[in-house]
Amino acid sequence: MSEFLKAMAFRHACKRFDTTKKIPEEQFESILEVCRTSPSSFGMEPWRLIVVRNPNLRKALKPSCWNQNQITEASELVIFTTDNDSVRSDTAYVRRMFERRGLEPEMVDTYMGVYKNYLEPIESDEELLQDWTAKQCYIACANMMTYAATLQIDSCPIEGFDREEVEAILDLPEERRVALICAFGYRVNPQSEQKRLPMSQIVEYR
Ligand SMILES: Cc1cc2nc3c(=O)[nH]c(=O)nc-3n(C[C@H](O)[C@H](O)[C@H](O)COP(=O)(O)O)c2cc1C
Repeated sequence: MSEFLKAMAFRHACKRFDTTKKIPEEQFESILEVCRTSPSSFGMEPWRLIVVRNPNLRKALKPSCWNQNQITEASELVIFTTDNDSVRSDTAYVRRMFERRGLEPEMVDTYMGVYKNYLEPIESDEELLQDWTAKQCYIACANMMTYAATLQIDSCPIEGFDREEVEAILDLPEERRVALICAFGYRVNPQSEQKRLPMSQIVEYR
């Protein structure tokens, strides 16, 4: 079996983490590096990560996260927030993201135009914009979880939280929204059998 498929088999949504085990700093930084190098639509990298290490802050967050034990027990807790103001069309941030590709100025303008055409119907609605930036976070998170599994590090993606409450506890500015939470650490219990639909039910060839 390929190393990648082995990691896919090892990864499960870990519910109880061993509170006595800490992810070595260098390995955790490499998990963050996987986020940094993940793909994003138009290369806009809308993710802004908050690593919550303060135990009191973890405790404060737990009730707003369906009281899930992973919030306080995991070695590392990563909150994916989105920077929704920067990615709006016509911002200096977006221009810089295109300029860094080393394009001629006219090409940058062309890209800005294509981007604007694409984003205008999305950015006109806060919720659509949040959906779009959050999607990028989910891709990065998936990469991080699978990569972590190659290091025998467990994880749990967490969507079970009250977004507005979590944003208030983190005291986020208006344009920063929480997309997803992911816990990383080491399992206490053996993982249960992976339950998945058969290939025939999810794939059709045409
Ligand atoms: C986007 C997303 C959000 C999830 N949110 C939670 C959550 O809040 N709490 C939890 O225990 N598991 C959560 N899960 C884990 C899923 O329940 C789990 O991946 C699924 O049941 C398959 O099990 P497995 O990952 O252990 O194979 C989430 C998974 C995804 C992909």
